[in-house]
Amino acid sequence: MGVGVIGLGHYVPEKVLTNEDMEKIVDTNDEWIRTMTGIEERRIAADDEDTSDMAFHAAQNALKDGNIKAEEIDLILVATVTPDTPFPSVSCMLQDRLGATNAAAMDVSAACSGFMYAMITAKQFIETNAYKKILIVGSEKLSKIINWSDRNTCVLLGDGAGAAVMGNVSEGKGILSFELGSNGAGGKELYQNEMDHLVMNGREVFKFAVRQMPESSINVIEKAGYNKEDVDYLIPHQANIRIMDAARERLGISEDKMAKTIKKYGNNSSASIPIALSESVKNGKIKDNDLIVLVGFGGGLTWGAVALRWGM
Ligand code: ACO
Repeated sequence: MGVGVIGLGHYVPEKVLTNEDMEKIVDTNDEWIRTMTGIEERRIAADDEDTSDMAFHAAQNALKDGNIKAEEIDLILVATVTPDTPFPSVSCMLQDRLGATNAAAMDVSAACSGFMYAMITAKQFIETNAYKKILIVGSEKLSKIINWSDRNTCVLLGDGAGAAVMGNVSEGKGILSFELGSNGAGGKELYQNEMDHLVMNGREVFKFAVRQMPESSINVIEKAGYNKEDVDYLIPHQANIRIMDAARERLGISEDKMAKTIKKYGNNSSASIPIALSESVKNGKIKDNDLIVLVGFGGGLTWGAVALRWGM
C-alpha cells in the first residue's frame, strides 16, 4: 500500500490587505510589489484569531473532505513558526478542539518547509504501521511577527492555514519519493529577532531558493523513476513568483501547470504549500493519477520535496 493524502482542506482569514493598502503603511507601490514578487493582496487574521484557530478551521475542512472522524486520528503534526504560545503546542490545542481523543500531538519547526517535514514524518509512521491516520497542518499568523515598518518584508507575508490527513492509499499512489535537507549555517539569512520580528536577507534567500527548489524537485522526480517531462503539476512554496518561475522553467513545466496562490495570499510560510495544494485539487487543476511535485524551502535554512501520485 502507498501513503498519501486522504483528506484536504484550507482556511484563510476574511480580511484582505491589498497592495494599495500597503502603500498607506510603508513607502511602496503596487507596481513594485507585483513585478518583484507577484503578490496583489494578502489575508490578515483578526485580532482575536490566532494560529490555532486557523489550524482548527483548516483541519475541520480536511476531516470533512476525507469523511474522517477526529477520533480516528493517531497523530497531529502542526508546522508553524507562529504558535499561539511556545507551549502548549498548537497541535495540543487542536487535539482538544477537534476532540481527537486518540491522537498524540507535536509541533514541527522548519519554517516554510515545515509542512514538507510534517508530511514526510507522517509517511514514516504510516509506512511502519505504527499509525493509520495522521493529521498534518501548516498554520501561520505571520502578521504578528511582521515588522510593519520594514518594506522589504512586510509586503511579502500573509496569514492562513492548510491541512491534510495522511493515510494508506492504493499501491502506486501517494508519496513516491522525498527529500529533506538543512543548512544551519544559513540561519542568519532569515530569522526572528529579539523584537520578535521576522528579519530577512532577501538577496541571499532568493539565491538559495532559486538553486534549491529545482534541484530538490529534480532529485525527487528521479528518485521516483521519472523524468521532468512526466510531471503534471508543480506546487512550489509561494515565496516569490520570480523564484517559482525560475524553478518551473528549469523543470520545463508550462505556466498553467504550477499553483500560484501567491497572487492573492502572499507568502504564508508553512501554510503556503497545503493551501496551494487544497485549492489546486478543488479547482480541478490536479486530477486522479497526476504526478505532482511539492517543494518548499525556508528559514533554518531548510528544504523539502516529494513526488506524489495523486489519488487514493
Ligand atoms: N517597495 C518598494 N521598494 C522596495 C520594497 C518595497 N516593498 N522593498 C524593497 N524595495 C527596494 C529596496 O530598498 C531597493 O532599493 P535601492 O536599490 O534603492 O536600495 C530595491 O527595492 C531593490 O531591493 P532588493 O532587496 O535588492 O531587491 P530584490 O531583487 O532582492 O527583491 C525581494 C527583493 C522581493 C524581497 C527578493 O529578494 C525576494 O523575493 N527574496 C526572497 C524572499 C523569500 O523567498 N522569502 C521567503 C522567506 S520569508 C518566510 O518564508 C517567512
